[in-house]
Amino acid sequence: LTDRDVVLGYHEATKHHYHRYARSLGYLDWDSQPDPFRRYVGASETRLPFVSPGNDRPYDALFTEPAVEPASLTLASLSEFLECSLGLSAWKEFQGSRWALRCNPSSGNLHPTEGYVIADSVEGLGDGARVYHYAPKEHALERRTSLPPDAWESMTQDFPDDVFFLGLTSVHWREAWKYGERAYRYCQHDVGHALAACSFTAAMLGWTAVHLDGVGDADVASLLGLNRDADFTEAEREAPDLILAVFSTALNTVPRSLSAVPPPEAWEGSANRLSAEQVDWDIIDQVHHACAKSTEDRAEWVSPILNDAMGLPTPRPVSARAIIQQRRSAVALDGQTSISRDDFYRMLARTLPACGGPPWSTIGPETFVHLGLFVHRVDGLEPGLYCLVRDPAAQPSLRDAMQEAFTWDRTPACPDGLPLYQLATGDCTRDAMQMSCGQDIAGDGAFSLGMLAQFETAIDTHGPWCYRRLFWECGAIGQVLYLEAEVAGVRGTGIGCFFDDAVHACFGIRGPAFQSLYHFTIGGPVEDTRLTTLPPYPHERTSPP
Ligand SMILES: Cc1cc2nc3c(=O)[nH]c(=O)nc-3n(C[C@H](O)[C@H](O)[C@H](O)COP(=O)(O)O)c2cc1C
Repeated sequence: LTDRDVVLGYHEATKHHYHRYARSLGYLDWDSQPDPFRRYVGASETRLPFVSPGNDRPYDALFTEPAVEPASLTLASLSEFLECSLGLSAWKEFQGSRWALRCNPSSGNLHPTEGYVIADSVEGLGDGARVYHYAPKEHALERRTSLPPDAWESMTQDFPDDVFFLGLTSVHWREAWKYGERAYRYCQHDVGHALAACSFTAAMLGWTAVHLDGVGDADVASLLGLNRDADFTEAEREAPDLILAVFSTALNTVPRSLSAVPPPEAWEGSANRLSAEQVDWDIIDQVHHACAKSTEDRAEWVSPILNDAMGLPTPRPVSARAIIQQRRSAVALDGQTSISRDDFYRMLARTLPACGGPPWSTIGPETFVHLGLFVHRVDGLEPGLYCLVRDPAAQPSLRDAMQEAFTWDRTPACPDGLPLYQLATGDCTRDAMQMSCGQDIAGDGAFSLGMLAQFETAIDTHGPWCYRRLFWECGAIGQVLYLEAEVAGVRGTGIGCFFDDAVHACFGIRGPAFQSLYHFTIGGPVEDTRLTTLPPYPHERTSPP
């Protein structure tokens, strides 16, 4: 079997069908529930300061203007960056049990994604370049290793002086514990959400975050110490995902790889064990192996031009920080609230790389994912099926792949730059709900959608590793929609559970050319009043220095 066969085989095997869900245990083994918080026991820890917001900006300004004054890299700004991207956003309590929510969402709130920082001489962290693991519960950095000065120099020679790096990794078992074989998909969605969360917070601070897609998995693993058997004797391993470079100086063209990758030597701490028992899902190890990313030089790309969401108005000026920290998933939608056509168009516009700003300034302009929309309650639009063609060049193949009867009409008052088409009219609330594993939220909102990826083309263009990249793009679209929903005064929810081929049949899609990889819904939320909400961190804040 080729790696391509393994990836396509995994995807097929982990589809949910009306008559059969993807393989999992089928029950939750509470005794082996994984700890959502990784620690490196024995590593020296620095608690990050809780400072009053120093660099808030209006949410809209993240897309339209360069920062007036980017934050300089200090312990306070690094703390703010981590708090608003991978930090806790609240604790929830119900009948004596407590669980944490984070700024980055996660399928089942299982949080497989771990974050690392590689930074040089930040005051308060000590002199010299070091690799740290981020512990979100304590809001602390755990020091894993130091880099020799010449290693840092040669690694960062193409970047501005104030660069630091953010690494993401995944503990696949955290998701597999609940979801079995389909879990690898969810881990990748979560990486996309986390990547986008970092991108938005960087923009809030006036920083640029860039995905270094010229760094391969082996280098990510060796930089972050994931390949150190001695530090994981009892502990679940982490799989390398990606590295972002974060810096404040504006660059027209940015490097996409590291000029050198030093293998650090002396490490501190060993990983805690997250579960008493682990069930092996071989197919996850196989697909991960087949999706391995090697180091390759990617062409430099120019950051997309910032524009203003096609002139579509924002409902009200809102603080970026407030939106980022109030983001939540709706657990139920009211089946009544509608949104305005302008809000709908603006939400969709922000998912386009052409719109500029986060998260596309981090991921890059290449897109493979289009939106198949189920419109239920958008004022001034007929309910029915719609399609947002995120890359206009793909329209002919999408049209070819979908039902012949679709009309492909432009929608009323749609901005020229928004490639949105009406396909068919009619109430699709029931279909949307049924296809999303019978979840009411898919029919009770203003609209829901399936993310239709140019599946085979992407994998054949970039190789099997691009399977991961497709889910990252979907997760990033999801993060945009979560934040946009908050801006519009409604609420979103990511939907990983759907009957794959039923969705394809609804749009008339056959074969692997297009595949739906993630669903999303937005509408008026119904609060679960039985839950108590507590603040994420107990600390008082100090004024910024
Ligand atoms: C990839 C992904 C898939 C999800 N799938 C579903 C789903 O099928 N149904 C659902 O009700 N919530 C789903 N969620 C929402 C999560 O349960 C939610 O993000 C998590 O509980 C954390 O809560 P928060 O988003 O409010 O921080 C999904 C979230 C993500 C990121």
